[in-house]
Amino acid sequence: MKIALIGYGKMGHAVEEVIGESTAHEVVSISYKNSKEKLDKEGIKKADVAIDFTSPEIVVGTIQEVLRLGTNMVVGTTGWYDDLSKVKTLVKKYKGGLIYGQNFSIGANIFFQVVGFASKLFSKFGNYDVAGLEIHHTGKKDSPSGTAKKLASIIMENFPKKKVLETGRLDRHIKDDEFHFASLRAGRNFGFHEIIFDSSADEIKLAHSAHSRRGFAEGAVLAAEYIKGKKGWHSVDEVFVEGVK
Ligand SMILES: NC(=O)c1ccc[n+]([C@@H]2O[C@H](COP(=O)([O-])OP(=O)(O)OC[C@H]3O[C@@H](n4cnc5c(N)ncnc54)[C@H](OP(=O)(O)O)[C@@H]3O)[C@@H](O)[C@H]2O)c1
Repeated sequence: MKIALIGYGKMGHAVEEVIGESTAHEVVSISYKNSKEKLDKEGIKKADVAIDFTSPEIVVGTIQEVLRLGTNMVVGTTGWYDDLSKVKTLVKKYKGGLIYGQNFSIGANIFFQVVGFASKLFSKFGNYDVAGLEIHHTGKKDSPSGTAKKLASIIMENFPKKKVLETGRLDRHIKDDEFHFASLRAGRNFGFHEIIFDSSADEIKLAHSAHSRRGFAEGAVLAAEYIKGKKGWHSVDEVFVEGVK
């Protein structure tokens, strides 16, 4: 498959490394802010799929341009989700194919499925409570992480007692319907997420810990294989849900 990279920072380089190890794929174009042309339109037109890891300020404009060129797209850039409906309209208008995700890591996506399955069981049996913890490097700007928010939505979908996400410091009793997700910032951690199920009988902890950016890059390439030749709007969840069918 011919792949165009849009954004050549930490993630762009990680994706290039993964593609370089494959005989099935090749990078045919690279666009970044300080390149001659910010967007290498000729190269993107020749590609089967473009993979974007850039910045939320410009990504919606880039999506419009790439769809207009007729190339399918993997959008790894995060932080633009207020514009979801606008982008859905663009996908329809240009009859393109687009897949997006807050977290492309293969391990994290399998972890999401495991947490969903476990939440269903723990909410039905025993008298379990559930809480979350995430740890990230000191350079991380947002809190809680997008992955923590995704985990919270999975818990609240599958654990009917929990209806409200609480991410602050609690100077009071927590209410039964609140799901507490705490954030810690320290050192160089690429991302640690833990879900704790606790009852008077026992405690079960499920955790995912990223060693590097490699998992995100491998997942982005997997998503590119998934979106090649497809039309419409897709989420990375589909890749992993379909994988277990
Ligand atoms: N979904 C996931 O699994 C996942 C995982 C990790 C990160 N992310 C997200 O991916 C995005 C990129 O992360 P990163 O760590 O790779 O960031 P980064 O190292 O800062 O790289 C950003 C890249 O975007 C380029 N860029 C910025 N503005 C541009 C413009 N106007 N036109 C063309 N290129 C432009 C930069 O070009 P220059 O090099 O010329 O400055 C740079 O190459 C972020 O939104 C991050 O949250 C998502």
